[in-house]
Amino acid sequence: MKTVVSGIRPTGKLHLGNYFGAVRSFLEMQENYNAYFFIADIHSLTTHPTPEDLHGNVKQVLAEYLAMGLDPEKSTLFIQSDVPEISELYTIMNMNAYLGELERSASFKEKVKSQRNNVNAGLLTYPVLMAVDILVHKADFVPVGKDQEQHLEMTRTYAKRFNHMYKSEVFPEPQAYSHSGKLVKVPGLTNQGKMSKSGGENDAIFFDDDDKPTHKKIMRAVTDSGPEKPNQDKPEAIQNLFDLMSLVSDESTVATFDAAYNDCSIRYGDFKKQLSEDTLKFIAPIREKIRAIKSDDAYLSEVAELGAEKARESARKTLKEVRQIIGFRKFY
Ligand code: ADP
Ligand code: TRP
Repeated sequence: MKTVVSGIRPTGKLHLGNYFGAVRSFLEMQENYNAYFFIADIHSLTTHPTPEDLHGNVKQVLAEYLAMGLDPEKSTLFIQSDVPEISELYTIMNMNAYLGELERSASFKEKVKSQRNNVNAGLLTYPVLMAVDILVHKADFVPVGKDQEQHLEMTRTYAKRFNHMYKSEVFPEPQAYSHSGKLVKVPGLTNQGKMSKSGGENDAIFFDDDDKPTHKKIMRAVTDSGPEKPNQDKPEAIQNLFDLMSLVSDESTVATFDAAYNDCSIRYGDFKKQLSEDTLKFIAPIREKIRAIKSDDAYLSEVAELGAEKARESARKTLKEVRQIIGFRKFY
């Protein structure tokens, strides 16, 4: 069976965009691959989170992925810092990563601009750590969005360089995982493009929010004065709401409102009320699961421990080979 590895940045609560754009595809992967999903808490240190925030975010994300259906028995769900072999391989791989290529990475250049006062070495070698996340399990595939393609290319460079330098074939060259079910790009509520937690309070619909704030956000979404001619094209703001509706409502509901738009009889208040009702219905069972799991420390610790064991078993094997290959050979 082919191996796939994916890293999840622990940055807080998940929204509908994360679910349709990432989690659903993870659920598909766990059925068909030897899948490793990990929470990238070492990567997070580049931004210096407080220990409380870091721990809280890791717990939140772990509970959310479990609630959404990641199965710790089917896949390996682990926390990056629970696997010390990752840090060891990172130290080794750093010796073959060159300053010039690291400085040319698009994400590094972007960070140099956006966080001038915190251009730390961890940021510079972020692609090395990401390569190690992937290579330590000898992954065949990595699900990556556009923004991570360069990192995957660098991963292949480091794999090839290592293999060549030591005349070994220890690391396969991982390829981008192609999402078979088309990835959905979920629009936000404030029309700034895709739904994002950085789009302000009113943009994203979070699973772990209560009904009231979510209902308010949806009712507040900007519309316009309504269609004037039958069958006219929908402006972006309206199309976005229809797109959201098609994710959470029945087809017949979407068709009813679409017909109302086309014959100019649509009332946006009713439309948004329906969207809110169906969104809340979609979210509620997942939210209840998230909350139950978050309050079950024994379960979370069992999951994390199982994941750490499975991930370490795989990582240990790779490290054993690597140590031998590079000359860390035992005298005792
Ligand atoms: P955010 O943009 O809110 O910071 P992240 O960058 O943490 O979200 O996204 C984590 C994962 O969820 C990524 O795989 C990303 O492609 C996916 N994702 C995030 N927002 C959306 C969206 N609006 N539509 C589709 N996929 C999304
Ligand atoms: N860099 C990825 C992101 O920002 C997260 C990540 C870290 C990752 N290590 C990985 C993704 C390994 C895939 C494989 O989203």
